[in-house]
Amino acid sequence: MADFSKIFENNEKWIASKLAISPTYFEDLSKGQQPEYLYIGCSDSRVTAEDLMGVKPGEVFIHRNIANMVISIDLNVMSVLNYAVNHLKVKQIIVCGHYACGGVKAAMQSGDLGILNPWLRNIRDVYRLHKNELNAIEDESKRYDRLVELNVQEQCVNLIKTAAVQRAYKERGLTVHGWVFDVRTGKLIDLNIDFPAILRGIMEIYRID
Ligand code: CO
Repeated sequence: MADFSKIFENNEKWIASKLAISPTYFEDLSKGQQPEYLYIGCSDSRVTAEDLMGVKPGEVFIHRNIANMVISIDLNVMSVLNYAVNHLKVKQIIVCGHYACGGVKAAMQSGDLGILNPWLRNIRDVYRLHKNELNAIEDESKRYDRLVELNVQEQCVNLIKTAAVQRAYKERGLTVHGWVFDVRTGKLIDLNIDFPAILRGIMEIYRID
């Protein structure tokens, strides 16, 4: 039998710590949310979004999946995106990948992973798009790191291809950011993706709104 007693004990302590800060802490939280950010990250148990960003409940709307993918026919990520942009009116969207990502690693190797094949196929497509740059990197671990970064960049591009993001950019200056979390050091790295430049580059083909 699984023993969750420690977890429920932790929860009681957590409640007490919040109420010590403010007796109306949960009453205030229950009134609603107005997060400024949408964060799309990997499901990896080591990449604890709120913890590593030091943000409080209510501050970030979060979606996580294997290898932080933004796939246009994935109802889950698209629902999160549309709700966050159109209803919560988030101001910024962050795609956060991480080094040592198992999903990216699996996409770099051959092997039949069943239901994961079509999911990881999207990362293989990123590799194909950037094949020349990646194949020129001799050190395999450096090539792996670079694919993590390029995958983040391509998922940012996928976000920019959506009507929701294009419209919100035009109407209220919503922008998309690409970050990488380095599990080896704990550092959060801004890839400084040039959002307006990418937007200009892809609008010729992908303009919706
Ligand atoms: Co991962």
